[in-house]
Amino acid sequence: MSSNGNSYLTRTAVHVAGFVADPRLREALESSFSRAAASVEKVQQCFELLPAQRWSEEVFSTFLHSWKATHLKMLAIYGLSCRIQRLALADDGEAREQLWIAAARNAETSYEDLGLDYGGVTHAALYDDMARSFVPNDAWLMEANGLPAALEFKRWVYERMIVDEIPIGLLTNMFSEIYNHAEYSLALSAFTRLVDAHYDFTEAERERALCYIGAHVGGETEMKHFLVVVDALHRYNLASGLSIDYERAETLFTEYLERLGAVMDEMRLRMVSERQGAL
Ligand SMILES: [Fe+2]
Ligand SMILES: [Fe+2]
Repeated sequence: MSSNGNSYLTRTAVHVAGFVADPRLREALESSFSRAAASVEKVQQCFELLPAQRWSEEVFSTFLHSWKATHLKMLAIYGLSCRIQRLALADDGEAREQLWIAAARNAETSYEDLGLDYGGVTHAALYDDMARSFVPNDAWLMEANGLPAALEFKRWVYERMIVDEIPIGLLTNMFSEIYNHAEYSLALSAFTRLVDAHYDFTEAERERALCYIGAHVGGETEMKHFLVVVDALHRYNLASGLSIDYERAETLFTEYLERLGAVMDEMRLRMVSERQGAL
């Protein structure tokens, strides 16, 4: 899937970065993908291996628990909006309006996850449906089945959004949305190939297995989330008299990719060893 030296993940993310009006933010986003190219390639390789065979419940449980830990972050989004709202409540000046909007914009990234316009069907429920299509018992839910690097990644994201300075929290949420847009596009193709080659699902079962990932790609959900967080950060900076620290942003984005690369590489190695044992 690589062409012109850039992976599918990078090309997809760079395409979305093109919608950002601020050229320096765009550059920080793009540069992080080239700086972390080796990590991005590791993620890519993991998804390329996924359709190769039907995996054991043990390997798939590890994949499902670990992958979830790198994604669903509704609690952190809520916490970050609370932090900004708290500042708005304490401000009786002109900044208040921008802070409200910044908090509301950030919260927009959780509408779909909460099932706001989908009859209350949450993304956690869709993930559960997907996971049970491949591992029909509770094994994938057990934290013991999560790769340590994945659990650490989840903690790292939560701390960036809840403990670190608010602009870092917004940059983290922003980056996770652009990255997720690219990764879910890749994952949809990998999971579709896996299902079609190795599972004998009915049409309804196939739909249930792929719905979670499809929900993030169709309608460009994550791409829109990315752009609303760009606006949230702009509003927050207006309210606070700050401007983006582009160097810090690029370092943060690069670290995000490096940490994810480590998770998915560890996952790929588990898959490789099962594959070698099975051949
Ligand atoms: Fe989601
Ligand atoms: Fe999102």
